[in-house]
Amino acid sequence: MSSPSFFEGNSLAARDAKSLIHSYTNLSQHEKEGPLIIEKGKGIHVYDDSGKEYIEGLAGLWCTSFGFGEQELINAAIEQMQKLPYYHSFASKSTEPSIRLAEKLLEIAPVKFSKAFFVNSGSEANDTVVKLVWYYNNALGRPKKKKIIARMKGYHGVTVAAASMTGLPPLHNDFDLPIQGILHTSCPHFYRYGKDGENEEEFASRMADDLEQLILSEGPDTVAAFIAEPIMGAGGVIVPPVTYFAKIQAVLKKYDILMIADEVICGFGRTGPMWGSQTFDIQPDILSCAKALSSAYLPIAAVMVSEDIFRGMVSQSEKHGAFAHGYTYSGHPVPAAVAMRTMELMEERNILEHVQHVSHRFLDRFAALADHPLVGEVRSCGLIGAVELVADKKTKRSFDPKFKAGHLAYLAMQEEGVISRAVAGDNMALCPPLIITESEIDEMFDRFTRGLDTVASMASKENWRDG
Ligand SMILES: Cc1ncc(COP(=O)(O)O)c(C=O)c1O
Repeated sequence: MSSPSFFEGNSLAARDAKSLIHSYTNLSQHEKEGPLIIEKGKGIHVYDDSGKEYIEGLAGLWCTSFGFGEQELINAAIEQMQKLPYYHSFASKSTEPSIRLAEKLLEIAPVKFSKAFFVNSGSEANDTVVKLVWYYNNALGRPKKKKIIARMKGYHGVTVAAASMTGLPPLHNDFDLPIQGILHTSCPHFYRYGKDGENEEEFASRMADDLEQLILSEGPDTVAAFIAEPIMGAGGVIVPPVTYFAKIQAVLKKYDILMIADEVICGFGRTGPMWGSQTFDIQPDILSCAKALSSAYLPIAAVMVSEDIFRGMVSQSEKHGAFAHGYTYSGHPVPAAVAMRTMELMEERNILEHVQHVSHRFLDRFAALADHPLVGEVRSCGLIGAVELVADKKTKRSFDPKFKAGHLAYLAMQEEGVISRAVAGDNMALCPPLIITESEIDEMFDRFTRGLDTVASMASKENWRDG
């Protein structure tokens, strides 16, 4: 890590602070403290520029499913670079890698989709989804049916429509978002929002009622779609009640509202099955995916749509002369080739079986943290989970934000050699590469727990619990 004098001389850290803007970073703190520079990676580990080794407990940003240094993916990129380093998909141009990948995605999709469209990031995927929903409803002659309902604490990215759908205030504050026509319904987090005496089933029914009330108050003929991550990631790793999505989808059906599954984190084995939609029995009309699609080795993301939606797009393109949407890099052959190889490796190496097997250890180690003095709730599914740090286990009172419990836990864990992340407050998340072994899971949790212990003793010494 950078020392307090990092900005002296011409070190990489100093050059970073002078030249780079960092995402999701306190920029004034960064000016003072500088970056952690990651130099290389191998398997589930990364190494900083002083040679210190870390377990990448968040698979980067919930994405490097095959960890670091997977030669097969590197080879796929090199081979495609040599053959055709770029081509596009505008005006009926195509490339073999993008065709093969589209076919593969349609083959493994959780429901029958008609077509896949490629973009470069999860945010672009979700912005595309919004435009497609509007375009489709115009094709159907329903110009009023345009509103999109997302959820508080949901995360869908940072571009204008995606950030609007995200239900986290820092993405809206002073960015003049959300845009009009994007609404947010209740967050299905039972631990935080369940009422006294209410069980999880009743809570799930109340969530569906809240959604229905919102639809009715807006007017069902103005609501086009509902978007949800199967498990909310950046919102704190919120695993919904078992019957939540069944109840939500019944409401959507009643009012002819499209279901959009944001599988950007949950897709490609994260929750055990290939898709979070399978884990939670979601029947999406549109699906966005990214991240583990290429194990994040190169940027690529996709949107899949139903035949009905595709037909709407066809009629619009006839009317206007073209489907006027797409990116210079949509279906770029190099990331598409890497993504295709990623999909093949998932099959060749039985990654889904592996996740289903090792996730027992992951879940057990998470469950054991429920007794930790800092932990209010443990949430996990497949190979994703989080602990929520609280000041008072009984009343669920959170720590006063001035103590920065989550941030300090993140630093303490980093010191111990595991990279976690404090998300949506004091929720410490783990989402390791899918290739992690049981013994590596043990090592990751040992380091994670030592980080929690350090913060627990700080909390006691500095009387954080007194408020
Ligand atoms: C569920 C979800 N959707 C969308 C996004 C946005 O993806 P990107 O950062 O690639 O734009 C993310 C990013 O973490 C995500 O977790």
